Amino acid sequence: MHKILVTGSEGQLGSDLVVALRHVYGVNNVIASGWRTPPQNAKTSPYAIVDVTDSASITAIIQDYQIDTVYHLAGILSAKGEQHPDRCWDVNINGLRNVLEAAKIFKLHVFFSSSIAVFGPHTPKLDTPQITVEDPSTMYGITKVTGELLCQYYAQRFGVDVRSLRLPGIISHTSPPGGGTTDFAVEIFHAALQTGTYTCFVRPETRLPMMYMPDAIRAMLGIMQADTSKIKIRSSYNVAAVSFSAEELVAEIQTHLPHFTCRYAPDFRQAIADSWPAVIDDSKARADWGWQHQYDLATIVTDMLQALKPSSVKDSCHHEENSNLSVSSTIR
Ligand code: SER
Repeated sequence: MHKILVTGSEGQLGSDLVVALRHVYGVNNVIASGWRTPPQNAKTSPYAIVDVTDSASITAIIQDYQIDTVYHLAGILSAKGEQHPDRCWDVNINGLRNVLEAAKIFKLHVFFSSSIAVFGPHTPKLDTPQITVEDPSTMYGITKVTGELLCQYYAQRFGVDVRSLRLPGIISHTSPPGGGTTDFAVEIFHAALQTGTYTCFVRPETRLPMMYMPDAIRAMLGIMQADTSKIKIRSSYNVAAVSFSAEELVAEIQTHLPHFTCRYAPDFRQAIADSWPAVIDDSKARADWGWQHQYDLATIVTDMLQALKPSSVKDSCHHEENSNLSVSSTIR
């Protein structure tokens, strides 16, 4: 049985991925980890404090738990990374390099979460190919391009079995995203249910690639469980599900909540969104290891509203307060 370490387990991806991995591999075989003590109510046991920027901290946990697989999710996202570029570089680059060094020594199987943020203003915006211009304008994107190259290098040079996905914006209801440019597509659901109105930080026509969490989980497990012979790209695979604009998301929510209104107040995150593609070509992932998504915009919206409805009263105000986030308020 595998012994799995998840870094960044308290983040948006990690909190759902840990639950899914424990379902498949058993609770005690999946070690959640983060840089700080988790909240009292977090269902994260077993849990370890791991500073990914400290190689000794990673080595210790790998030896203590006899880890053979790491899902490396710890990272600073795009909007937060613009406020703290040095920290973004340190966590995203040195954290990954420490994980890859440990993988080389302990022969670990590694998953690395890359992003659509590797692309930039000169990348084709529609049907963005697997191999194309990568000229990111954010520190986050720069760290993800570099990270992908590090993964490819460690795979080719040292035979490390590292696999990676360029994830789009992830929509989920379990835990909030933390400082990304695609956060509006999650905040909007909470606001729609709690106050009936949302202030969106990108313009209505802003179209970005998105994916519902259950699809993201299947993508991560799918690439990690695929036979090695099927993994032909060791930098990172394009993966896609749906693309929609902010106004299309609003219209879909209005089919359930006709009185919901959205106003638009673009901030610094607009420029980041404008630098990213609208629609990704993920045909290589589909051909190589059988990637398929399940959720489209209509099913995402139906499921999100259903999942969030029962708790709509208890958190009231929280997301309306956050709907106009200045980046400083998102810094941890
Ligand atoms: N969701 C991420 C962000 O917005 C993209 O990888 O930063």
